Amino acid sequence: MTAACVRTAVIPAAGLGTRVLPATKAVPKELLTVVDRPAIQWVVEEAVAAGIDEIVIVTSPHKKTIEDHFAQMTDLESVLEEKGESELLARVRQVNELANVRFVSQASPLGLGHAISMAAPLVGDEPFAVLLPDDLFPDEGRTVRRMIDVAESVGESVVSLTEAVGEEITKYGCAGYSMRDGAVVVVDRLVEKPVFERAPSNLRINGRYVLTPDIFDKLACTEPGRGGEIQITDALALQIGDRGLRGLVVDDVGFDTGSRADWLRANVELSLRGTDGSAVAAMLEAALESNGF
Ligand code: G1P
Repeated sequence: MTAACVRTAVIPAAGLGTRVLPATKAVPKELLTVVDRPAIQWVVEEAVAAGIDEIVIVTSPHKKTIEDHFAQMTDLESVLEEKGESELLARVRQVNELANVRFVSQASPLGLGHAISMAAPLVGDEPFAVLLPDDLFPDEGRTVRRMIDVAESVGESVVSLTEAVGEEITKYGCAGYSMRDGAVVVVDRLVEKPVFERAPSNLRINGRYVLTPDIFDKLACTEPGRGGEIQITDALALQIGDRGLRGLVVDDVGFDTGSRADWLRANVELSLRGTDGSAVAAMLEAALESNGF
């Protein structure tokens, strides 16, 4: 791989969002607000910060509002312009100017691997990143950039890994490894949501991947796995015996906005880190006190 190779990020956003119902009954989970913008905008901004400017979002037919969010809204822009709301206008325009965002539909929910394979015609024959929008890594693209650097130097796919605590590993893809050099591991086994006693390690896959384009061939011959779905983990396992697979172990676990508690944590922590940080801290202190904590 050469330095300019990873130009595209695929964001699979076709899932049902059952973990946060009823909030996601009519609103796609990717559009749930985190501080001041939808979760998926944080993820697009992360990809852009990592140096990626082509975004492919995999949606489902009932999630057209995700497309609306990234489209130009001329009526809204005219109203803001007339009212002299220049700051708001700039923020609205910034959303559709972030990157070249394209959409592809996954008609049936056949799994994460299947969703990623839908992006093949738009990605072409080059390495690409995958960012799962449930997982927020508001780190200015550092994790994805580091993964791209590893992928470029070894010419293999790279998965982002974090040490799981206790039985947490059973909820994630798990990576066993044969060698570790600093933060980089040579992955020799992958299991999607293993039984605790049989997990090959405590390293869980986070929702960030850099994939070589042969993954599309692997996905095409991946049988339905866990939950009867085509799993990206199983397609990556096929790469191990072929060209190899690396993992980058990161300390940052990000935020899982598909979990109610972590969505709330994302809002609190990212508000504290933002320009309103002191006001939010004061508000939290007052709220704790008035509720007897
Ligand atoms: C997916 C992947 C899993 C990974 C997880 C990260 O699972 O299949 O390997 O660990 O994302 O968030 P899901 O959360 O879609 O069940």
